[in-house]
Amino acid sequence: MSKSISGFSKLSKSKKIDWIVNSYFSNAEDAKRVLKQYWNNNEKLQQLHDEFIENTITNYYLPLGVAPNFLINNKLYTIPMAIEESSVVAAASKTAKFWMERGGFRTKVISTTKIGQVHFMYVGDFEKLNQFFNAIKPKFFKDTDAITKNMKKRGGGILDIELRNKTNDIKNYYQLHASFETLDAMGANFINSCLEQFAKTLRSEALTFEMFSKEEKQIDIVMSILSNYVPDCLVRAEVSCKVEDLTENGTISGETFANKFVQAVRIAEVEPYRAVTHNKGIMNGIDAVVLATGNDFRAVEAGVHAYASRSGRYTSLSHAKVENGVFTFWMEIPMALGTVGGLTGLHPLVKLSLELLHKPTASELMQVVAVAGLAQNFAALRSLTTTGIQEGHMKMHLMNILNQVEANDLEKQTLTAYFKNNTVTHNAVIEAINELRVKN
Ligand code: MEV
Repeated sequence: MSKSISGFSKLSKSKKIDWIVNSYFSNAEDAKRVLKQYWNNNEKLQQLHDEFIENTITNYYLPLGVAPNFLINNKLYTIPMAIEESSVVAAASKTAKFWMERGGFRTKVISTTKIGQVHFMYVGDFEKLNQFFNAIKPKFFKDTDAITKNMKKRGGGILDIELRNKTNDIKNYYQLHASFETLDAMGANFINSCLEQFAKTLRSEALTFEMFSKEEKQIDIVMSILSNYVPDCLVRAEVSCKVEDLTENGTISGETFANKFVQAVRIAEVEPYRAVTHNKGIMNGIDAVVLATGNDFRAVEAGVHAYASRSGRYTSLSHAKVENGVFTFWMEIPMALGTVGGLTGLHPLVKLSLELLHKPTASELMQVVAVAGLAQNFAALRSLTTTGIQEGHMKMHLMNILNQVEANDLEKQTLTAYFKNNTVTHNAVIEAINELRVKN
């Protein structure tokens, strides 16, 4: 039975571990050993990681892989990817090479505006509220001067603040809907600090606004928070080549491949069940780079999927066409990324990943991330419409199964060779290793 505890956060790390292993594990010593084997010997480095979050008991490793040969707007990149799923990095590398030989990826940042909102309740006349808003609007900017000073110096800041009437959705509900330019910062702290100041200004100015009745003066702030929906922070990535150049090893003609590929994308455009999986494949690439560069992949995920539903029906993020003998495959996606602030200056592997990417601006990073997503989608659709996904996937998965059964180097070598010509299934691998072990 699970136990409850009070004052857990105040315990030392080792006391926390003692409580966990003694309360939840049949073999406390073994559980402790597993936790401790992931601690870093470098105490300073371990402390840095301990302090990223609360109640840290150990580190959770993910592999950091790299996919070289990404030609983006004529500049070569090796892209860092932090991900646990086999074949994603291999697929990225293969696609990078394929498109490098066909002119590479072209990308463009379309817009970089981010959004934040103060949600509030006001009981009274809308026209009066509107007049009040217009009267105090300059004060919102003035009262946030201390917060926006540095950002403004660099060319960013608060772009605009609107009053939005939402009373058709919820009685008495209004918003301050603000737009921001946060340059190379993801901007969450900056935006939230501005919003909380807007809320204070709104509430206090209302108390002394002469036109308001006693009730109208009592503006009730519900919350102030940035939005992770960033449809105006948009990046485009694209590849194209002559249809006949799409063929690689002569197994399928460029025309057949292009037609099947376009059909597959069309299906994802009209069929939500397929669109979700199609977009999941895109996110395999996107999340891996977002994570490697210390950005918030949950924010990116939430925003991207909301964008995929903006028409009212969930649909494909990517599109493809064949026109005048030219195959074009592209995608426009929203994402708010930072290359300064947050983990970017703290986590040694994030710093390393950013240096590997030529120390990009946030706009440059948006383009790299979009390319990783498009490449992943291309690789998935290429497999799905030709050999099927399992062939490549299970080969990569083989290593995971072998590791699960603690295969040694020789066993790995023997079975990798064996499964070059045999179908990988979980059972087949287990049988093969058992047979091998009996023989030896
Ligand atoms: C698996 O992680 C991703 C795919 O399912 C994507 C797709 O179906 O397009 C292969």
